[in-house]
Amino acid sequence: MWGPEGLDEVKAELLGPPEELKGRDVLELGAGAAQCSRWLAGQGARPVALDISHRQLQHALRIGGPFPLVCADAGALPFADASFDLACSAYGALPFVADPRLVLREVRRVLRPGGRLVFSVTHPIRWAFPDEPGPEGLSVAASYFDRTPYVEQDDAGHAVYVEHHRTLGDRVRDVVASGFRLVDLVEPEWPAWNTSEWGGWSPLRGNLIPGTAVFVCVRD
Ligand SMILES: C[S@@+](CC[C@H](N)C(=O)[O-])C[C@H]1O[C@@H](n2cnc3c(N)ncnc32)[C@H](O)[C@@H]1O
Repeated sequence: MWGPEGLDEVKAELLGPPEELKGRDVLELGAGAAQCSRWLAGQGARPVALDISHRQLQHALRIGGPFPLVCADAGALPFADASFDLACSAYGALPFVADPRLVLREVRRVLRPGGRLVFSVTHPIRWAFPDEPGPEGLSVAASYFDRTPYVEQDDAGHAVYVEHHRTLGDRVRDVVASGFRLVDLVEPEWPAWNTSEWGGWSPLRGNLIPGTAVFVCVRD
């Protein structure tokens, strides 16, 4: 699943035709509970699920799956050059790092020539709107161009959650400057069947403004 709209890889085929996933080495970045790796393993691929959070990987382990779990920072991948055919990430790692090019360059390094990276992030336009599913989430409240990160702190003033904003143009430049060719930028439309609300994502907002951006990149 690429985002709360409900666009799934079966329908989107952004990693390529499912029948060609068999035997492919796939790196999932910011895997969380490793839903994507579980699906990929079901297609006969050989995924590796990577996340910086040990706690998230404990959930992945509890749910299970025939693939390795790796606790590491996406900006310092513990793999040899040219180890993977594909890399994917559904809202993983990239929105949370200050230097996304570090991650993208690392992914390029571990991909084989011709390899593909597909990653989704919150659509940058959402930065300008309150993160609310109702009508209050439809009025611009902040500058789209303000790159000041969103930070939540604990009582001691330590950052416990940080999200970094990149404009659409920033993301395109990050991809290209890291040595990838951008072959598609998918903005999933909200489908009629999806009546659920999740955080700031809702049918009301989804019908009016995009909520997810999916970047399809090739390492030539
Ligand atoms: C919004 S969750 C997405 C999880 C999963 N991909 C999904 O679709 O449910 C973001 C994940 O990125 C991970 N993450 C954040 N920064 C990271 C980094 N620098 N390296 C690796 N993983 C990171 C978080 O620990 C978290 O599990």
